[in-house]
Amino acid sequence: MEQQKRYGHFDDQHREYVITDPQTPWPWINYLGNEDFFSLISNTAGGYSFYKDAKFRRITRYRYNNVPMDNGGRYFYIKDGDTVWNPGWKPCKTPLDFYECRHGMSYTRITGRKNGVEASVLFFVPLKKWAEVQKLTLKNESKEVKQLKLFSFEEWCLWNAATDMENFQRNFSTGEVEIEGSTIYHKTEYRERRNHYAFYHVNAPIQGFDTDRETFVGLYNEFADPQAVMEGKPRNSHAHGWSPIASHYIEITLQPGESKDFVFLLGYIENEQDEKFEAPQVINKKKAHALIAELDTTEKVDKAFAELCALWDNLLNIYKVRTGNDKLDRMVNIWNQYQCMVTFNFSRSASFFESGVGRGMGFRDSNQDLVGFVHQIPPRARQRIIDIASTQFPDGGCYHQYQPLTKRGNNDIGGGFNDDPCWLIFGTVAYIKETGDFSILDEMVPFDNQPGTEVTLFEHLKISMDHVIKNLGPHMLPLIGRADWNDCLNLNCFSWDPNESFQTTENVSEGTKAESLMIAGLFVVTGKDYVALCKKLGKADEAARMQQAVDAMIEAVKKHGWDGEWYLRAYDFYGRKIGSNECDEAKIFIESQGWCTMAEIGAEDGLVAKSLDSCKKYLECEHGMVLNNPAFTKYIYEYGEISSYPEGYKENAGIFCHNNPWVIIGECLAGRGNDAWSHYAKILPSYVEEKYQTLHKVEPYVNCQMVAGKDAFRPGEGKNSWLTGTAAWMWYTVSEFILGIKPDYDGIRIDPCLPETAGDYTVKRKFRDADYEITIHPNGAQKGVKQVILDGQPIDGTVIPYSPGKHVVEATM
Ligand code: GLC
Ligand code: GLC
Repeated sequence: MEQQKRYGHFDDQHREYVITDPQTPWPWINYLGNEDFFSLISNTAGGYSFYKDAKFRRITRYRYNNVPMDNGGRYFYIKDGDTVWNPGWKPCKTPLDFYECRHGMSYTRITGRKNGVEASVLFFVPLKKWAEVQKLTLKNESKEVKQLKLFSFEEWCLWNAATDMENFQRNFSTGEVEIEGSTIYHKTEYRERRNHYAFYHVNAPIQGFDTDRETFVGLYNEFADPQAVMEGKPRNSHAHGWSPIASHYIEITLQPGESKDFVFLLGYIENEQDEKFEAPQVINKKKAHALIAELDTTEKVDKAFAELCALWDNLLNIYKVRTGNDKLDRMVNIWNQYQCMVTFNFSRSASFFESGVGRGMGFRDSNQDLVGFVHQIPPRARQRIIDIASTQFPDGGCYHQYQPLTKRGNNDIGGGFNDDPCWLIFGTVAYIKETGDFSILDEMVPFDNQPGTEVTLFEHLKISMDHVIKNLGPHMLPLIGRADWNDCLNLNCFSWDPNESFQTTENVSEGTKAESLMIAGLFVVTGKDYVALCKKLGKADEAARMQQAVDAMIEAVKKHGWDGEWYLRAYDFYGRKIGSNECDEAKIFIESQGWCTMAEIGAEDGLVAKSLDSCKKYLECEHGMVLNNPAFTKYIYEYGEISSYPEGYKENAGIFCHNNPWVIIGECLAGRGNDAWSHYAKILPSYVEEKYQTLHKVEPYVNCQMVAGKDAFRPGEGKNSWLTGTAAWMWYTVSEFILGIKPDYDGIRIDPCLPETAGDYTVKRKFRDADYEITIHPNGAQKGVKQVILDGQPIDGTVIPYSPGKHVVEATM
């Protein structure tokens, strides 16, 4: 492999990724905001902001599928004599003397230098504020006096990001703004049903402004050469319809060595219905003035930034490992946990691959995401579980997605994905083990959000399990319904019509024999959890009832789900095998290997070991394990979307990173630490970062959903970064199964599975009201803790019993 060009590096001390070349192989982005106001920002300051919902409350405009790719964002134009440049290089692309972008924990700092001037912008959303701060510091590093002209730029979105992109016959006539001092207000549709507006402010007097896009840019110019900037002359335009923007113009004199700060603020305000206006047609700006006053000096902004950093100190202090392997430590201590929190906030809605107008929160996705952040924000995890369970149906089925703003199930997609119910157990058990809060099981939770239908959360778990049991096929394996985890294995959809959706078209399910081995494994794993929970609650009969169902499922898998070298994937509509040596293509699939090995089905007969070996033999490649092998080379009417993708991409033999950890956990349970580690390191961003920045393309500090597989045209190329179940699964795998610090009902179970080469390491874990400092001595073993010493005293077994306070633990393998 040739040496690949590098575009940046990790700075662990500051918890930052430092990008040193603006021309990254793809925009490398970061996320700002933690509660209500959110922004996406690329390494050249591209991106956009929204309030709570990326579709319905989009504040600034962004054009997906654009040329060039990442165009539009918060831009500062600096005119120094005849030279116009931007600190983030784009959009002018004037060559800079120095460029650096530091993506940190919920903030980004972009610095550029040109002709003796340094411009550094810190972007962040202060805690509990509905605003993005852009603190610009300009410094004259030359020996001459500098006379600079500064233009800011934001383009407003007309709130609904979907209609903003299509309804031009209306949009071009609705835009409205107000200008007051150094603040530009965006109030489109405020005159009618909207009680909200946005503003863009700077804490300095301005010498001009623009609010009409075409006047500022010029109809035949581009963001790279707006006419107002090129001529050094703002037009003081007032937008009426067309495309409203916000641009401030400031003249700045800097003595040699002098520096000046400017605080720009992009804010969002909601007013009460009867307090909307301060005069006819004039918006009530009281709340805007108050928000501005909270952030109008460098000192106030620095304080707000320190508070944000303190929040991240706390969040990242809950689980901290020191192994001496920087590549592992930085992912565990910083980036993996950070990505989990971003996934919690954004689910699958807004990234540079998700346009923010598409899907809502997934039932299965959100339950899985939960294991990634439950240790950091347990109360919000609790609320999330209740919200999710409220979209369940009385028969245990559930809406596949719900909308975050309304929390209602999504009718266009409906239900019928038969893996969905099991995930509720997965999420809830993780929450209780982390917190010890069994009271959540007594919460009264409705069905389909209908008041009056409430039953306890425990009852929801029970009907979830029963939903699987009541929907078994001819081999006593779970019927798949529309699809299981793999959205694209559509066994009851037969489609020759390109205008039909593979997910929602279920045209022949009557008489289906389509069964899923993935759900079978998932049922056994979550069923064992459910049984343990029932025992814990003293519900012995219910535990026994479910144990029987679990045992029956195990038997069914052994009898009808084993193909000789691996677990089958499914039976199709007609009862024919999928993922079998008998098939022409896609003889083996990863999902059932993952779940059936996690369930340890047939371990005693060597099935688990054989399945894991087959994953190595047929699925593994340089960049991870592919989803199926060999790839489909043609569309198969009976299988659906999976066979619609070209070889090696997405669900057709791509490395769908989300499911690699399932096999890795299977390896860990089997005690095969060397294999677990080698699979894990292949998709661990820090290892990829070192080798493949150009090939991989997407951000090297987070996992992406999919890396092109070995059958692809360009194996190793990453796509769909950031918002993926991979984040939570990587976290769950490394924190609990590799490093082996596993929350349990009564304490922390210590059960690592490591490569032989692993040295001693220490994990600091806050757990409920206790602080544990746990040192593991592997002594070359891959698995098996021989002795645990708690505060100097050996204990029986490997579960450290929970007790508040500080504790020191030593575990020897
Ligand atoms: C995406 C979906 C997830 C699904 C997976 C595989 O990640 O969000 O729900 O399980 O694709 O199709
Ligand atoms: C799913 C998943 C994806 C799949 C697509 C099918 O939810 O994101 O992996 O390819 O949607 O439309």
